[in-house]
Amino acid sequence: MDRVEVPGPLVEVAEAAARVVVLSGAGMSAESGLSTFRDPNTGLWERFRAEELATPEAWEADPSLVWAWYLWRFERIHLVQPNAGHTAIGEWGRLGLADLTVVTQNVDDLHERGGAPVVHHLHGLIRDFRCSECGYPHADAVAVPSTPVERIPPPACVACFGLVRPGVVWFGEMLPDDPWARAVDACDRADLVLVVGTSGLVYPAAGLPAVARASGAFVAEINPLESGVSDMAHLCWRETAARALPALVAAIGPDTL
Ligand code: APR
Repeated sequence: MDRVEVPGPLVEVAEAAARVVVLSGAGMSAESGLSTFRDPNTGLWERFRAEELATPEAWEADPSLVWAWYLWRFERIHLVQPNAGHTAIGEWGRLGLADLTVVTQNVDDLHERGGAPVVHHLHGLIRDFRCSECGYPHADAVAVPSTPVERIPPPACVACFGLVRPGVVWFGEMLPDDPWARAVDACDRADLVLVVGTSGLVYPAAGLPAVARASGAFVAEINPLESGVSDMAHLCWRETAARALPALVAAIGPDTL
């Protein structure tokens, strides 16, 4: 692998930062093998766009289709591993150099499995299945078929017979209060906010870099492509998450990576 050059100003800020926030999107998990939200779907799902399936309207119209798609994504998450970007964030936390908070839009658990100390999920976690009517948790009641199937009827809630749904936030739904409040607070207090692998198009998450910048944080983007938040960053590093983050942590920490 060719050597990754870490931008000097970013090393300086990261070395001095007491509070760091990593704000991640689907690009963070791309090198683990999970497709991003705006990548075309594959296989059984290639006729559908993610934005069309991740909505309350799609659930209302065809819950079996939406349920089968989420079960397939749930299974994919199980099958993949945290990448070098996720584990570098875990390592940064363990170094104890900064108070490190991850704010993620991702509904996978790869940050947790990569060892990140604090993770706030703005868009929920698929695995937190719950009743769509009464909210009763159904984390264990989910049977994943061995081969993907296009339609699977969602199970019925044991408490009220409502349909069980994935623990995610769909387009047009409110974000969970607690993770959102903690995310705003962390961005308000941060010295450095690293925006990694997000298109920066979906609000309110896409507004967090502006919150951080207004409160005095240095905002740096890690993304191979320009995004909706590039304009607002002090520095844009056109690299991938799994290449950039280990190089950054190696540059600021003792020689442990
Ligand atoms: N490393 C870093 N960034 C990457 C990588 C990579 N290896 N691969 C792709 N990217 C970038 C892309 O350039 C793009 O800017 O990741 C971004 C992925 O964008 P989206 O697919 O739009 O994902 P995201 O920003 O997380 O979407 C936000 O939209 O649909 C909703 O709720 C869903 O949480 C999701 C939200």
